Amino acid sequence: MNAPPSVAALYDIIHRRRDTRREFTGAPIESEVLERILAAAHAAPSVGMSQPWDFVLVRAPETLVTFREHVATERRAFAETLDGERAETFAKIKIEGICESGLGVVVGYDPTRGGPRILGRHAIDDAGLYSVICAIQNLWLAATAEGLGVGWVSFYREEFLRALVGMPEHVRPVAWLCVGHVAELPEVPDLERYGWRSRTPLSTVVHQERYPSR
Ligand SMILES: Cc1cc2nc3c(=O)[nH]c(=O)nc-3n(C[C@H](O)[C@H](O)[C@H](O)COP(=O)(O)O)c2cc1C
Repeated sequence: MNAPPSVAALYDIIHRRRDTRREFTGAPIESEVLERILAAAHAAPSVGMSQPWDFVLVRAPETLVTFREHVATERRAFAETLDGERAETFAKIKIEGICESGLGVVVGYDPTRGGPRILGRHAIDDAGLYSVICAIQNLWLAATAEGLGVGWVSFYREEFLRALVGMPEHVRPVAWLCVGHVAELPEVPDLERYGWRSRTPLSTVVHQERYPSR
């Protein structure tokens, strides 16, 4: 049975979403569009309705360059841990589009948001962090629907990014998202295209009743 058109449209966005790095055009995002994708992020589910996210919008070229240089240092640190084929393959992969996108959205997690007793976080403290990830995914899908690209950058030290955007000590910088117009969305993830790693078949991660014994 085929999905109704509106459902098919959602699946289409989910499957078209790509991490983008080299495709950014640098064209500025219309403010209404940016507002819509941030509103989509803010509509995410959150443990105890804590809404523990913050979004710092970074456009200043000097801040983008400073962050890109830090990421380049972390890239070198990771590259030094590789050898042989892994090192050669990694060398071909672009891991960020910080300056090209023209906009960085730094997503923060504030564990104090909503007070000391968050409904649903008493046993699993990470549930706060999970909520922020839900917001990021909403933003990513909304951006895809709007024809924008998003690239998640995690090659950074949290204390560096916290200081760069002035986040207080208790707020955790969870992601730097490069967000911008793109010439196109790649059909195949870069990591797959360069032979770093491929998506595994669904059947390898779906289990019946119990986790499979090794
Ligand atoms: C938590 C997280 C951190 C990531 N960090 C980076 C990164 O630092 N640089 C990068 O190029 N891609 C990064 N990615 C993107 C992944 O490489 C990408 O999602 C994966 O290769 C699958 O490709 P797709 O998102 O296009 O489906 C990150 C993704 C996630 C979810």
